[in-house]
Parts: sequence; C-alpha cells; structure tokens
Amino acid sequence: MATRAEAPIWTERKARWYLRATARGDYADRVLEAIVPLLASARTALDVGAGFGALSLPLAVRLDRVTALEPAPAMAALLREEADRLGIGNVALLGQAWEAAAVEPHDLVLCAHVGELLQPGSSLLRALPTLARRGAALVVDARPGRDKFFFRELYPMLLSRPYRERCGRYLDLLRWLDGQGILANVTQIGYRSDQPFRDLEEACDFWQEYLGLPGEPVREFLRGYLAERLIREGEEWIAPLRKEAAVIWWRTDGGGER
Ligand SMILES: C[S@@+](CC[C@H](N)C(=O)[O-])C[C@H]1O[C@@H](n2cnc3c(N)ncnc32)[C@H](O)[C@@H]1O
Repeated sequence: MATRAEAPIWTERKARWYLRATARGDYADRVLEAIVPLLASARTALDVGAGFGALSLPLAVRLDRVTALEPAPAMAALLREEADRLGIGNVALLGQAWEAAAVEPHDLVLCAHVGELLQPGSSLLRALPTLARRGAALVVDARPGRDKFFFRELYPMLLSRPYRERCGRYLDLLRWLDGQGILANVTQIGYRSDQPFRDLEEACDFWQEYLGLPGEPVREFLRGYLAERLIREGEEWIAPLRKEAAVIWWRTDGGGER
C-alpha cells in the first residue's frame, strides 16, 4: 500500500497500464460479489480514490448514481474517457482529494487500495458513520510477501536495495474498527491482475518507469531478463500477477446482517 510520501505519481502511461491490467482481470467482479448485501440496499455510492473507475463504473451500472472522488488528473481523465466509451452517464467525478472535498452522505461509501485513507484512525474512517447512510466497504491488500513484477529480484540487482512491499495491515484496521464498535465482515478475495504488453519494448518501458531507471544498459539487461519471464499470449507479452485482498464491509443502518 502506498503511503502519502510514496504514492505513485499517476502519469497517463501508468494509468493506462493499470487500466489494461484491470480490464483483463476480475477485480471488480470479486469486490462487488463480496458486498452484494450492501448493494441490495444502496441507490447511491461514493468511491473515494476512484482511480480510472475500476469500481465506480461497474457500480454505476447497478446503482442510480455514483460519485467518484479522484485527485490525480491522469486517472480522472481516464475515468471520464472510460465512462464515455461505455456510455455511462450517472457518475459524477470530483477531481479532489478526500481531505479537500465536501461530499454529502451516500448510501454506500467505498474506498479501495488508497493506503493513506485506510490507515487506522484516518479522517475518512472517522467520517464513515455519518457519510455512509447504509454501508461502507474498504478494500486492502491481504497478502504481503508476494513477488510483484519480479521486484524482489530486480531491486537488489538494479537498485542495490531490497524491495519493501507497501502493504496495508488489515488486521490493524479491523482492530481499530472494532475499537469504534464496528464489527465488520471480512471477505477474502483472490483476483488476477496480469499486466499485458504489446511487445517486449513496451514491457521494458514499464519496468524502467517503475524502477526509475532510464538508459540503454538497463534496457538491454531488461530485454533479456523479461524475455525469459514474461508469458507469450498471441502477440502480447504478459506479466502474471495474482493478488489477494480483504474486503471489509459493514452496515451503518443497523439493518439486515452485520
Ligand atoms: C491504487 S489506486 C486505486 C484505485 C481504485 N480505488 C481501485 O481500487 O482500482 C489509488 C487511487 O487513490 C487516489 N488517492 C490517493 N490519495 C487520495 C486521497 N487523499 N483522496 C482521494 N483519492 C486519493 C490516487 O490518485 C489513486 O487514483
């Protein structure tokens, strides 16, 4: 999980890579499946840190109205583009960070993979009892220690330091919620987030951008390294990635199951 100091800077290119990985995978299906009981009683949703709309857009298909809060201009632009492409007209996009936004209560409030807002005691978590009329859902990485994009091998080789996985500790979050009198449901989900590339050169661009290492010598090394590890699928090159997350959700209206 990214903290504020380490938050990725969402360039258009990074946002589009992220979108392509998500589009191939089953992330939204798994998250929305986990919160079916909340969706049944919600007409409106607020998605805090919506990114390019991985969850906002499928939610908008199910609900009357979705507000997507997304401060990164590259992500917000992609969300708008995707909403237009899919003909989804019931998403209101606010290009602001949570801390700067004035948002009204919604039936469902969702926050997925926004590290700084999912720290125990964050201002968002404190606001949920009044912000979420019927229910709240938080999505956090559940399994630190998995090798993402070969970084555990590549960091020591190319950056001379270990890869420090940034992962939220969801048990701390659960404990904090419990301390607030919130007995949340936890649904563990697994989903695929394989990253596709048109060709090996695009894959080299991806690793060079994420490692922050431009230049031909690194690229030459990566060409050989990635050619051995990526999987060919038709014309594409795929970096396989399976992820696990905890969907933490609860009702705020006292109705139905917890
Ligand atoms: C890892 S992405 C997750 C996007 C989406 N929730 C998903 O699950 O696909 C995190 C997003 O949160 C946004 N973000 C980071 N800090 C934020 C804040 N303080 N308020 C609102 N959004 C924030 C980032 O710009 C980024 O688009």
